[in-house]
Amino acid sequence: MKFDVLTLFPEMFVPIEESIIGRATKSNILEINLVNIRDFSEDKHGHVDDTPYGGGAGMLIKPDVVYRAYNSIEKSKNSKVIYLSPQGKKLDQKKVEELSKEEQLILLCGHYEGIDQRVIDKINPEEISIGDYVLTGGEIPAMVLIDSVSRYVKRSFK
Ligand SMILES: C[S@@+](CC[C@H](N)C(=O)[O-])C[C@H]1O[C@@H](n2cnc3c(N)ncnc32)[C@H](O)[C@@H]1O
Repeated sequence: MKFDVLTLFPEMFVPIEESIIGRATKSNILEINLVNIRDFSEDKHGHVDDTPYGGGAGMLIKPDVVYRAYNSIEKSKNSKVIYLSPQGKKLDQKKVEELSKEEQLILLCGHYEGIDQRVIDKINPEEISIGDYVLTGGEIPAMVLIDSVSRYVKRSFK
């Protein structure tokens, strides 16, 4: 199975790369591709955030930057896109086992006050939450999803 992770903080994924999942990636059972959203900024200062379109509090990750990062990913015919979001459907065991049957999962991690809704509407991801609380970013939720789903990709990793 391949996980493509769109994130502003690829360096946060060390625990995944160092763990048993890291060993599974070395033996080609799992592949984890970390995509730094910031690399797709066309702003000369590398800015990726903006005030909400139409007003509102806080900052959002810009839609065009996310869309370019998303388009850079090589997609299989059966890829599935997930936005880690506190508004999403709660991740549970049934969902974990269902996701483990996918060929490719593209995980979108938000930050600040989230991701501009215009690109969410365009990509149309499934939204998944890891619990009824709000974290500062989607990286920890993405690691929870990768860790739980990976256990079912091949039984010998339990
Ligand atoms: C500070 S939160 C955004 C909060 C925003 N006001 C909202 O309600 O969606 C920043 C990012 O963290 C991630 N996040 C926070 N809590 C989460 C949760 N419980 N499950 C999954 N992702 C979460 C999402 O990717 C979100 O875009």
